[in-house]
Amino acid sequence: MQLSQSYTLPSGVELKNRILMAPMTNFLSNDDGSVSLKELDYYARRSGGVGAVITACANVNAQGKGFEGEIGVDRDELIPGLRKLAASIHEQGSKAILQIYHGGRMCPPHLVPHNEPVSASAIAPEREGAVTPRALTEEEIEQTIIDFGEAARRAIKAGFDGVEIHGANTYLLQQFFSPHSNRRKDQWGGNVRNRMNFPLAVIETVIKKVTAHADKPFVVGYRLSPEERENPGITMEDTLQFIDVLTDQNLDYLHISLSQFHQSSMRDDHSTRPVINQIVERAGQKVPVMGVGSLYTPNEVEEALETVPLVSLGRELLIEPDWMQKIQSGDSIRTKMPKAPGEDILIPEPMWTKIMSVPNWIPVEK
Ligand SMILES: Cc1cc2nc3c(=O)[nH]c(=O)nc-3n(C[C@H](O)[C@H](O)[C@H](O)COP(=O)(O)O)c2cc1C
Repeated sequence: MQLSQSYTLPSGVELKNRILMAPMTNFLSNDDGSVSLKELDYYARRSGGVGAVITACANVNAQGKGFEGEIGVDRDELIPGLRKLAASIHEQGSKAILQIYHGGRMCPPHLVPHNEPVSASAIAPEREGAVTPRALTEEEIEQTIIDFGEAARRAIKAGFDGVEIHGANTYLLQQFFSPHSNRRKDQWGGNVRNRMNFPLAVIETVIKKVTAHADKPFVVGYRLSPEERENPGITMEDTLQFIDVLTDQNLDYLHISLSQFHQSSMRDDHSTRPVINQIVERAGQKVPVMGVGSLYTPNEVEEALETVPLVSLGRELLIEPDWMQKIQSGDSIRTKMPKAPGEDILIPEPMWTKIMSVPNWIPVEK
């Protein structure tokens, strides 16, 4: 099967197969952002089969913390815990990639300094009860870029094999690329090219840190969401222009965040071509594209691998931690969460309650 074949990323890091664990926030870290013991168990349980585990998003500074129980990479004192996390993934036999991020205007006020979320501009997200963020100053923008670089340095020190820069799912990097949240008139906003400047500066700084600090090949991936529903909002046309530029940044992969792997445009009903195919065509041979989205069975994944070289699995690895191992052994693979899971699923509290409390977030056995 294609999914079991190894794959070498542009940096030279070799993945033993084409499957990665998608980044999933687990609400399991300690209040100070340090890694907890139950978090180590949760990751170890899901490591070993997949080529690499991409961790939950880790905030690069205090202002970027978006969830309770979120893992932090914003201080050197967190490095020892991060080292344990990388080691617990490595011990099972998978590569470890730390997702680095800033939540921007999506951060709940009580988690950030002065109860004041920040963003590109002072525009609230379109959801009930959302607060209006404060627009970052030029100086704060420069500092945030440095913070992403420092996060990459800490990931290297902690022994990770790479970082994934989280430019997707409505968080700060996407907020700069979005014409909804970015109304700036300076070098960081305005036309679509200027709206790329913040994510590009983050990528450049991260890569510089890697060059300076890594003594072996180190993965730098970038995750993005191709469209937004809002008006104005990111369109496929914007994203394809962004892909043209991203493919020249020496990245190891582009991870396209979609809820359905094969979905077509959510803004344009007349466009029926899957978004992922449009992106793969535009990226050409320059950067590998990673797909994701409601893939559960080996057949679905094999079919997806006809389009992209790499696939990440999120919810399916919550449901079936031994997904890869069971393919190899020929055992039947669970694709729905048991109502009362046994110990083997190992989703510690409060993660279990959080994910089960959102209706239909995870498919559950009848
Ligand atoms: C519990 C949970 C937490 C998530 N947290 C993150 C996150 O921290 N970073 C991120 O980029 N995506 C996050 N996602 C999105 C997943 O990476 C993935 O894109 C999404 O679940 C679709 O893939 P799937 O259908 O295989 O689950 C999360 C998804 C779930 C279910």
